[in-house]
Amino acid sequence: MTARRKSHGGQEVRFQIEGPKATRAIVVNVERKSRGGGTAVTRDAESRLQEAVGLAQAIDLEIVGELTAVIAAPRPATLLGEGKVAEIGKLREETGADLIVVNAQIAPIQQRNLEKAWDAKVLDRTGLILEIFGRRAQTREGTLQVELAHLQYQKSRLVRSWTHLERQRGGFGFLGGPGESQLEADRRLIDERIKRIERQLESVVKTRTLHRKGRARVPYPVVALVGYTNAGKSTLFNTLTAADVLAKDLLFATLDPTMRVIALPHGRKVILSDTVGFISDLPTSLVAAFRATLEEVIGADLILHVRDISHPESDAQAQDVSRVLQDLGIGEERAERIIEVWNKADLLDTEARAMREAQAHRHENLVLVSALTREGLPRLLSMVEDRLGAENEVYQIFLDPGDGEGQAWLHDRGEVLARETYPDGRVRLTVRLAQDRAGQAQARFGRAMRMDVDLSAAAE
Ligand code: GTP
Repeated sequence: MTARRKSHGGQEVRFQIEGPKATRAIVVNVERKSRGGGTAVTRDAESRLQEAVGLAQAIDLEIVGELTAVIAAPRPATLLGEGKVAEIGKLREETGADLIVVNAQIAPIQQRNLEKAWDAKVLDRTGLILEIFGRRAQTREGTLQVELAHLQYQKSRLVRSWTHLERQRGGFGFLGGPGESQLEADRRLIDERIKRIERQLESVVKTRTLHRKGRARVPYPVVALVGYTNAGKSTLFNTLTAADVLAKDLLFATLDPTMRVIALPHGRKVILSDTVGFISDLPTSLVAAFRATLEEVIGADLILHVRDISHPESDAQAQDVSRVLQDLGIGEERAERIIEVWNKADLLDTEARAMREAQAHRHENLVLVSALTREGLPRLLSMVEDRLGAENEVYQIFLDPGDGEGQAWLHDRGEVLARETYPDGRVRLTVRLAQDRAGQAQARFGRAMRMDVDLSAAAE
């Protein structure tokens, strides 16, 4: 089986995991019999099961069984009914699975009972997502947030299941003072670690703010890719950046491995930023951890919402993503900052393609692409250029010989697209400036500054 990792540099690496070493797992999707409440778009059980299988594969599990268990009412002791528990126990014996992934939130006591009944480890949905976040967290902040969520999750599991933990506690036993029960000691230990991580997080956030300020001086706009897990963000990121590897990337590679500089059709440069994929029904306890991985999105100049348009649940997934974006404060009022990238066009049949093409034509914030065949990508890039270009104009500024200060001023505040030195030592810079910066530049350079009319001439 193969698994995916994003290595330093944002490139995706596939590697083989030898069969015998991978943990064998059964994925159990749990469905309530009557699902009232009338959500706008419902996902069917099969696609929820497939999503859970996909998530389990993301942490290198070998899936040896998958099924959906329909329950009328959750059993306090085991969540599932007796018959189902026995059936899964039998399947576990037949397949030799070591792990059962239950795609639901389960209480600590239920987890313990199920582990006993199946004689296997049980991972619930929160535990599974924590594993994924843990593997993908790339920034220090992301790692700490995930660790914090993990500890909080463990702490909730401590209720009544401490004997279980006691067996694994190893060297920590000495911490329990006289008269202190094991459970209290465990809680205290976890509380201390939580406090320590919260302190570390505080200092990381401070450092990040500094980095951000540093980056704010970099005059390239940030374009962030967001989207549902498996929508094709990394593929698109790699396709768009592979053709355009600039030496300047190194600057950003040290800052964050998922950022790259790319040039738009007319030479303008932007920073493309990849993010962790969205997952449906994210438990609230994990929202902070997930949010930390999306920091870049909040400050982005433009957001590319990548959708797998060939997926049967594409619309429901898009709603999920929009909801999270709204939670992050990127709602309707910032809708003009979002371009919907309808990916995997190559997988559509003729009829679906005609429909999607017609829709994409009607809306100026939609574009149909394939990250694999590259169709639609030139249009996507020129849309990005249009959106960003609307706010900034390109100017030509003539500087006297030796006016290094003037040059530094422009490099600091604008995006220098071209530079030409005349024989007499004068320098002409072609610079893109935001409106307010252009006003300041006008005050400083006066008649030596003029609007650049031919955009294509500014391309490097
Ligand atoms: P997460 O990392 O889970 O958030 O996923 P992602 O959005 O980064 O998706 P990724 O780029 O890993 O792509 C998921 C799968 O879709 C891979 O198997 C890709 O090869 C495939 N894929 C991506 N884009 C396209 C496309 O345009 N057409 C087709 N046919 N497959 C695609």
